Amino acid sequence: MSGQEWWKRAVIYQIYPRSFQDADGDGIGDLVGIAQRLNYLSWLGVDAIWISPFYPSPMKDFGYDIQDYRDVDPIFGTLADFDALAARARDLGLKLILDFVPNHTSDRHPWFLESRQSPASAKRDWYIWRDPAADGGPPTNWLAEFGGSAWEYDEASGQYYYHAFLKEQPDLNWRNPDVRAAMYDAMHFWLERGVDGFRVDVMWHLIKDDQFRDNPPNPARPPNAGPANTLIPLYTADRPEVHDIVGEMRAVVDAYPERVLIGEIWLPTDRLVTYYGHDLRGAHLPFNFQLIGAAWDAGVIKEIVGDYEKALPRGGWPNWVMGNHDKGRIASRLGPRQARLAMLLLLTLRGTPTLYYGDEIAMRDVPIPPDRVCDPYEKNVPGLGLGRDPERTPMQWDSGPQAGFTHAAQPWLPIAADASTVNVAAQRDAPASMLTLVHRLIALRKAEAALAIGDYGALDAPGQVVMFLRRVPGRRLLVALNLGEGGQSLSLPEDCRGATVLLSTDPERPLGDLAPAFTLGEGEGIVALLVDLETAPPSPAA
Ligand code: NOJ
Ligand code: MG
Repeated sequence: MSGQEWWKRAVIYQIYPRSFQDADGDGIGDLVGIAQRLNYLSWLGVDAIWISPFYPSPMKDFGYDIQDYRDVDPIFGTLADFDALAARARDLGLKLILDFVPNHTSDRHPWFLESRQSPASAKRDWYIWRDPAADGGPPTNWLAEFGGSAWEYDEASGQYYYHAFLKEQPDLNWRNPDVRAAMYDAMHFWLERGVDGFRVDVMWHLIKDDQFRDNPPNPARPPNAGPANTLIPLYTADRPEVHDIVGEMRAVVDAYPERVLIGEIWLPTDRLVTYYGHDLRGAHLPFNFQLIGAAWDAGVIKEIVGDYEKALPRGGWPNWVMGNHDKGRIASRLGPRQARLAMLLLLTLRGTPTLYYGDEIAMRDVPIPPDRVCDPYEKNVPGLGLGRDPERTPMQWDSGPQAGFTHAAQPWLPIAADASTVNVAAQRDAPASMLTLVHRLIALRKAEAALAIGDYGALDAPGQVVMFLRRVPGRRLLVALNLGEGGQSLSLPEDCRGATVLLSTDPERPLGDLAPAFTLGEGEGIVALLVDLETAPPSPAA
């Protein structure tokens, strides 16, 4: 147990800037809008905000295609707006984490324009250029995440360039030391401006095979998986050399006090934990997404948590993510009742939780009519449910026009049909609302060191119940969640005298004493303080 670094006790809140608050009335969220809503986040009790990219961008992938790493896109505002936002955040005690996208730039970035000019260009080697295969086709079978070959042919030079995502997102060549230096400079630029850390986009993608070997076919392609999943990305991601880069990024961040390095890494647990690095000199928090797509089943959840706890390197700090801008929303996936349990789980497990904007009011995926689709993923591979617009719709603030998000006649993505009832204003003082639950959970996490930084211990439980202890010396909290249908009778651990309920997802349950034998309602979760057995009084001296 240790909790010195702020990010160990923190709750992180992800803001998708296009959709949080539009201040200038163009229908797209902006930095001034975010600044206006910081009071809300401060009230909610989160400690840090991570803002998805707001840098100058042609917006082919809505900001994940960056044209300039050291400025703000006019859609989102100016550097002065950024500084004002950062100052306001600092005043409120909120940490500020930026999204850093080092794997690829926009094809409009001056580096790529120069690189593309000719094979003799000084920046040619800043990107990954290859001659065609013997048959004139792409150099390898590598596939792009958003569909098709990952190689784009350049008529002028007769070579191909590699892009793991859109063809408008060419991959940088991280084997080139000049690329590394330029990107670390960009990190310094923002660190000097006072940001508290970075969430690094697709960290596990940064280095590709130097021998350009074909990826093997994937015999176990999951249903509804993206088009690139027909191959195993053996030679395009999670290469051993990536850890050198992560270590260098960590050193950049470590040159400033109290900064955090977070990695976006979609890998199974055993691979994920390698990103803590040798002697924990890698990412502070390799994002742990294991719960996002997990079957909502007690056995599965127990196993995920247990495996992760076991796999963590000594001293490695855990973390949990329940939703983000790339995956369907939790309230749509699980339904309203179980979504409350998901929030309880996220905010009581051991490790830094990351909360996606809107999940605290149980926003749901918004169906997007075909003529309103924005996401290139949906445009490239339509109809498979891979599009990410549904989870990126405007934040629902109140029951007014456009849910209080914008004064524009039409926001960039449609507002949810249920926004008149599912919104911050309606939920803020409603005792049974999701927002009230999340607000209380965050407050409890803050008040109880056992939840913030305590140990984790799994407990056996029947049926669809997940049960565990969180403890610091002298204080043990019991967390029990009933994922099943119907009630479930349970008993308190034998080594306690009783318990006091501190919080329940069921607003009807009274707080206070909990009998040794108790029942959890359908979809109910509780946090209870265990009353320890009295140690026998010392026998009076004869
Ligand atoms: C991961 C980001 O989360 C996603 O939104 C983006 O499309 C890809 N990386 C490419 O940058
Ligand atoms: Mg705007």
